[in-house]
This record gives sequence, C-alpha cells and structure tokens, in this order.
Amino acid sequence: MRSLKNILVTGGAGIIGCNFIRVLLNKTPEFSGRIINLDALTYAGNAASLEDIEKQFGGRRYFFEQGSICDRSLVESLFSKYDIDTVAHFAAESHVDRSIFGPETFVKTNVMGTFTLLDVARNFWQEARSVGLPGAGAPDIRQDVLFHHISTDEVYGSLGETGAFSETTPYNPRSPYSASKAASDHLVMAYSHTYGLPVTLSNCSNNYGPYQFPEKFIPLSILHILEGKALPVYGDGKNIRDWLYVEDHNRAVWLILQRGVPGEKYNIGGENERENINLLHSLIDTVSKKADLDPEKVRSTISYVKDRPGHDRRYAINCSKVKTELGWKPAFGFEQGLEKTVDWYLANSEWIEGIRSGEYRSWVEKNYGARGA
Ligand SMILES: NC(=O)c1ccc[n+]([C@@H]2O[C@H](COP(=O)([O-])OP(=O)(O)OC[C@H]3O[C@@H](n4cnc5c(N)ncnc54)[C@H](O)[C@@H]3O)[C@@H](O)[C@H]2O)c1
Repeated sequence: MRSLKNILVTGGAGIIGCNFIRVLLNKTPEFSGRIINLDALTYAGNAASLEDIEKQFGGRRYFFEQGSICDRSLVESLFSKYDIDTVAHFAAESHVDRSIFGPETFVKTNVMGTFTLLDVARNFWQEARSVGLPGAGAPDIRQDVLFHHISTDEVYGSLGETGAFSETTPYNPRSPYSASKAASDHLVMAYSHTYGLPVTLSNCSNNYGPYQFPEKFIPLSILHILEGKALPVYGDGKNIRDWLYVEDHNRAVWLILQRGVPGEKYNIGGENERENINLLHSLIDTVSKKADLDPEKVRSTISYVKDRPGHDRRYAINCSKVKTELGWKPAFGFEQGLEKTVDWYLANSEWIEGIRSGEYRSWVEKNYGARGA
C-alpha cells in the first residue's frame, strides 16, 4: 500500500473534491497526511463548503491555495512548497450545457490544465540522479508517487438499450465537455507510456450528494420543487444516466490512491440506471414527503423543454474491475443516497442562500483576508 503524505487535491471546492477532502480528514483514520487544495474558485467552486474543515484542520493538515491549474509557476511552487507525492485531480469545467455554449474554457482547463499538472509532476518527480544527463534517454521517475485523474463515463459516448461501458470500450466523446475530458484522459495515459509517470485514471458515472452546485439536475430539481417553480426536463425525459452517491465515488478514489495499479484505469458506477423523468418523480415524492407538499400538484409543474443538442441517450457502467481488484462496493443504495441528499439541501439553506445572493464568491476574502488564501 502506498504511503500518502502530501496530497494535492485540485478542484477541492467543487462537489466531488470537497466531499473527498471531508471523507479523508473526517472519516479515514488510516490517512494521517496533509491535503493541499488548489482551486481557482470559478462560479462552481465554493470555499464555504469547506468552512468546517478549515476551522478544524486549517494550517495543520489542510491548506487552501487559490489559483488555476493552468498557472505553471504556481503549480511548480506548490509541488516544492508542500513536497507533493500524490495528485488527486478533480478540477475541471464540468457542466455539459455550459460546454455547448462556451467550449473554450473547457479546452483550457480540462486539456491545458491537466497537461500543466502532468508536466510539472513529471519534472518534480524525476529521480535526482538522472536529471540533466545528456544522451541518457528519458530520466527515471520516482515510482512511490501517484497522479490520479478523475474522469467521466461520458468519454465513451452513448449506449443503445443494452450493454455497459467497460474499461476497454473505445472512446467516442460527443460533447465539448466529454471531448475535453477524453483529451485529458489520453494525455494522462500518454505520460504513463512515454515517461513512466505513475498514473491511474477513473471514469465515473453521474454523482449526486451534498454541496452540488444547483445548476445540476438533482439539486436544481430539489430547489425548484421547494419553491414551486417549473421543473424542466429535456426532450422526452427518457435519457438514462447511472447515479452514484458522491461519498461512494470518493471511497473508490481513496482505494485507487492506496492500491491502484499504475497505468490502469477503473470504471466507477452505482449500477443505478434511471430515466431522467423517473428520477424526477422519485425526487418529487421524497421532497414532498419531507416538506409536506402535495406531490400531484408538484408533478403538474413538470415541463418538457427542447432537448440538449447532441444529448447522449444512455450511459451505463460496468464497474466489476474496481470491485474485484480493489474490493470496492457502494455503501449507499439509491433511495438512501437520495434521502440523504434531500435532507442536506433542506438543512443547509444558508449554503444555498450564499450561492443565490452571490455572497459565496467573497467567502475567501472575508475569511482569509487580504492574502487571498
Ligand atoms: N459531477 C459528476 O457527476 C461527475 C461525474 C464523473 C466525473 N466527474 C469529474 O469529476 C471532477 C469533479 O467534478 P465536480 O462535479 O466536482 O465539478 P464541479 O464543477 O462541482 O467543481 C469543479 C471545481 O474545479 C474548480 N476549477 C475549475 N477550473 C479550475 C482551474 N482552472 N484551476 C483550478 N480549479 C478549477 C472549480 O472552482 C470547482 O471548485 C471533474 O473532473 C469531472 O469531470 C464529475
């Protein structure tokens, strides 16, 4: 098992990254190292999501650094400052709809940002003895380190009514988001093959859970149900996604960091395929019960809207490899995860209000002062 001392988490202020940091520091006693969270705090990043972590671990085991993964000199300085031995790379532009209307930033962050991290890691982890020897071929790279890249099942394209993506399914990305993630996946594997950089890669299905920015389907629908607003559903509502509770995803990432085989990729999924419209009905039932609403009245606000261009029909994931090789299994069933998520949104109106008012954008300045973290 790898000894992980200084983990650079990128994008730790987004839903998956912030839950990952919380799982590692609060619920993983076998981890005693430090986490350095590099996040640019785009519209999707919310440093307030880690307020409790900052209070409890800040300056000892948790360090927040605001900046972009595309900023090479910043990334280099962080590798040296914290003597990084592990990268858990979550940072990305992640919303498919936004990639349709503004693809450039997806290419910059997801492709160039990943390239920058890989290249800094390659240089920083070169064995000191082989650096700069002319004619000696590629320098050796330390093998006690790991670069783990978090990716999506969307790189595989769309499925028909049957079948599931495996780790050997050919890539067929069909949106600017999935194309940029596919490009970053290829770069990660190229750094393994060409330079011997120890990398692992995971492709996961749709995540849901606490701290998800309310532009994504589940939190958006929960809030609209509570506020009596229209519930938009793309196309005929029959597109199918596989859903995984975010903590289960992060448990898999943690197993990969410890025991994943360098050069290997792992699919992660919940084996919970749902048509969007059926998922919405489950949400309506759950929220209505908890918030004392009339579910039939809520259902009458469903409105089918023009389909997303190039909308993939079905995703399903075969995750037997991570189960058999690393012993992962999800701890939360779909109904249980959904209940926990709804409970979290009901109990955290302050977090939601912070986003609505835009106040979350000034959290860092207020809490870290002029140094800007
Ligand atoms: N959410 C899902 O359902 C899902 C499923 C599979 C894979 N993924 C992948 O998991 C990762 C995390 O996704 P998420 O849902 O937490 O995303 P998110 O949008 O919630 O968060 C992304 C985070 O990255 C940060 N960020 C963006 N650009 C940056 C930059 N240039 N430098 C530093 N930080 C930057 C943002 O500020 C934000 O905190 C992504 O790589 C995504 O592709 C997500």
